[in-house]
Formats: sequence, structure tokens, C-alpha cells
Amino acid sequence: MIFIEKIYNVINGNTPLLYSINNYLKHLKYSFEDTKCNSVEQYRASIIRLYHTIEKGLSYSDYRPGFGKDNIDTLDCLYKYIKKNLEFGVSDAILESRIKSIPGNPNGLGGTIEIASITQEELKTLNYENFIKSRHSIRHFGSEAVDVELLREAIQIAQYTPSACNRQGWVIRIVESKDAIDTILENQNGNRGFGHEIDKLVMITCDVRAFQKNRELFQPYIDGGMYAQSVLNALYYKGIGAIPLSASLAGSQEKKIRKKVGINKSEVFILFIGVGTYPDSCKTTRSERMPVDIRLV
Ligand SMILES: Cc1cc2nc3c(=O)[nH]c(=O)nc-3n(C[C@H](O)[C@H](O)[C@H](O)COP(=O)(O)O)c2cc1C
Repeated sequence: MIFIEKIYNVINGNTPLLYSINNYLKHLKYSFEDTKCNSVEQYRASIIRLYHTIEKGLSYSDYRPGFGKDNIDTLDCLYKYIKKNLEFGVSDAILESRIKSIPGNPNGLGGTIEIASITQEELKTLNYENFIKSRHSIRHFGSEAVDVELLREAIQIAQYTPSACNRQGWVIRIVESKDAIDTILENQNGNRGFGHEIDKLVMITCDVRAFQKNRELFQPYIDGGMYAQSVLNALYYKGIGAIPLSASLAGSQEKKIRKKVGINKSEVFILFIGVGTYPDSCKTTRSERMPVDIRLV
């Protein structure tokens, strides 16, 4: 009977190993690589990824004229890119004619938005909808350091994140050491152009020891991801500027950070968050949201 049950589990992918392999194969089959796409969904994601880098570059206080040319292929923010470069006396006739030959009209939904600093009192008057809609990733910070006590208060609030069976497997670190911050940013892929403005880093990992062998391979990432969003909201609530920084790293990058920060082998990486004080005003990416697609089943 036990033998039959074992065979049944193997056939149905119920063993942790097969489950992992199946998920990896699914990832290989459906994820995209740069601009190599074969479905509308992949093209959409790939294009958003590319234009997001342009929006980011447009938002930097330290604008690099002519940046990111390789990523330019379509979309609305391209017109803003041409205009902004012209302000700096940089133009590229071939690129401009390619962009102008794209059919359709710019929809005005790309580029950057202006962020003005908001006081704690103003923040507390916001209702839930306005609070959520007015949080933005910040990539330009004031010159003052972030008060660690304030960071701790934000982190206390995030502790109320729900988690599977209330196991709270997340681990959070405040990284203050310049040396450790430099190692992390050198090995993180998305902070070019603004990383030097980050005052401190908040690092979120999740400890796999809080999860069951069976069926919970991804639970650390799910619980950890939910926690990371709570931390972002709490930072905003406390008036701390924050930029989530992907912890999807190459193996060698992860290894260097693990060693420098002293991260236990049982922990998986969830997210880095660069923090700093709000400047009086700054630009950030518009990051327009897609119309919601609710599927009724
Ligand atoms: C998991 C995750 C990883 C991210 N990684 C980066 C990153 O490496 N560099 C960056 O500049 N922004 C990063 N972002 C910020 C996104 O670009 C940003 O959240 C998105 O454009 C939506 O904009 P908003 O945060 O202003 O609403 C990341 C966001 C998330 C949630």
C-alpha cells in the first residue's frame, strides 16, 4: 500500500523534488529572455521592462544625456526621451526617425511624475485608497540620514503582515555599514544612476526553517513578498523615502552578499529596500498601471 502511494506521488508530482523540477520546467517554458518572445504576454512584459528603464533614466536628478539607447524600441516615453535629450543638445536622427515611424499616437501615460515631499500630518489624513495610490518608489533622496528609530517604528508596523499559519518566517536587517551597502549595491542589478544616493538598506530574507518540506517550496517567497510590501507601506507611512531593489541575483552575486552581510544558509533572499529622507521634490517613474483584468470563474 505504501509502495503504491509512493508511485502515485511520483506520477502526480507530489514529491518535493518532482514539484521543483516541474516548476522549473514551467519557468523555462513560459518565461521570456530579453526580447525573445513568442506570446503577447511575454511581449507585453518585455516591452514594459524596457520602457521602465527609460522612465527610470528620465527621473534621475543626475540625468545622463543619451543614456539607454539600446533599450529604445517603441512606446510613448520615447517622445519624452527625444525631447529631454534635445534640452541637453543631444540628438540622434536615425533613432528619432525610427521612433516617429512607429504607428499610433503617444498616449501621454509614460515618462515621469513629480513628487513633492509630504508631511507626517498630511500622510495621516489620507484614506486607504489615497495612501496606496500616492506611495511611489523614490530614487532621489535628501541629504539628511534616516533616523534608525523611525525605521524601527515602521518595521514594527510591518510585523502585522499575515503569514501562512502565522509562522512569520521573514528576517529583516537594517544595513548601515557603508562597506556592506557598497557590496550589496555593486551586486544588485537595478540601482545604476541613483544607488549612490541611498542612505541605508533594509534587507528582507525569509528563513526556510519556518516551512514544511512538502508543498511549501515557494511559501518563503510568498510570505516574504507580502511582508516586503507591508514594509514598503510602513516606510511610506513614516515618511521615509524607499526604493525596492530586486534580490533576483546571479549565484555569484548572492554569494558575495551572503558572505559580507553574514546571512545564514537557511535564508532565501526576498528584497532589498534602499531608504533615504525625502528631498523637497523629485521626479520618479510614472509606472502607469494596466487596466485591471478580473476573471470571473
Ligand atoms: C520586487 C521588486 C523589485 C524591484 N527592483 C527594482 C530595482 O532593482 N531597481 C529599481 O529602480 N526599481 C525596482 N523596483 C521598483 C519598481 O520599478 C516599481 O515598484 C514599479 O515601477 C512601480 O512603481 P511604484 O513603486 O512607484 O509604484 C522593484 C520593485 C519590486 C516590487
